[in-house]
Amino acid sequence: MCPPESVSMTFRLAPSILSADFASLGEEVRAVIAAGADAIHFDVMDNHFVPNLTIGPMVCEALRPHCKRADGSKIPIDVHLMVKPVDRIVPDFAKAGADIISFHPEASDHVDRTLGLIRESGCKAGLVFNPATSLSYLDYVMDKVDLILIMSVNPGFGGQKFIPSALAKLAEAKKRIAVQVEKSGREIWLEVDGGVKADNIADIARAGADTFVAGSAIFGQSDYLATINAMRAELAKVRE
Ligand code: DX5
Ligand code: ZN
Repeated sequence: MCPPESVSMTFRLAPSILSADFASLGEEVRAVIAAGADAIHFDVMDNHFVPNLTIGPMVCEALRPHCKRADGSKIPIDVHLMVKPVDRIVPDFAKAGADIISFHPEASDHVDRTLGLIRESGCKAGLVFNPATSLSYLDYVMDKVDLILIMSVNPGFGGQKFIPSALAKLAEAKKRIAVQVEKSGREIWLEVDGGVKADNIADIARAGADTFVAGSAIFGQSDYLATINAMRAELAKVRE
């Protein structure tokens, strides 16, 4: 039997298209997938919950056919909602082909209901934690969560610096996940978002993250394959 640590040793890279060339999104998505992306992180901002405005369900629907590997297998679209309120827009993203929908607990009056709504829509449900937001929102909903997303920057913009307190928070979230997995056997992803780069990804993985959002670190480089390979090489050190 494998040691328990090895169960969580699948690392996934989820490039955030926030830093992609918005004039060529389909091409950009195909390029990062060809370079080895495991998921496409899709940042939705409303100029209300966060001070920026981005893309919605129509763009998600337009990108869906592009989110597949060369062998035709599907690449998940990981929708990160930075909008308030949340519920109205959830079914639209589900219809548009989202696979994971995550939201910030402060943006929903009824967190349990929103998690249920996402799952009823056929998607995996995620809760997102801003740097100053307590993980106590998880206390009574761990059985309804498929993904925990720890923000390592304040949401709204790409290219910010990683906030180190996210490491302790990842470790705490990882403990909560271990307790829940023991109970249910169901997988829960632990994702990190903000300031992730090749030079800090190994420390972030050691803290417990298994899914890594990276926007500017990937799309800010001309060679996506070299950048993703450099990140994977760093992650391979964590496995050793
Ligand atoms: C920030 C977004 C991130 C953003 C990360 O609010 O949620 O997904 O794209 O960008 P980088 O990787 O550049 O910090
Ligand atoms: Zn994000």
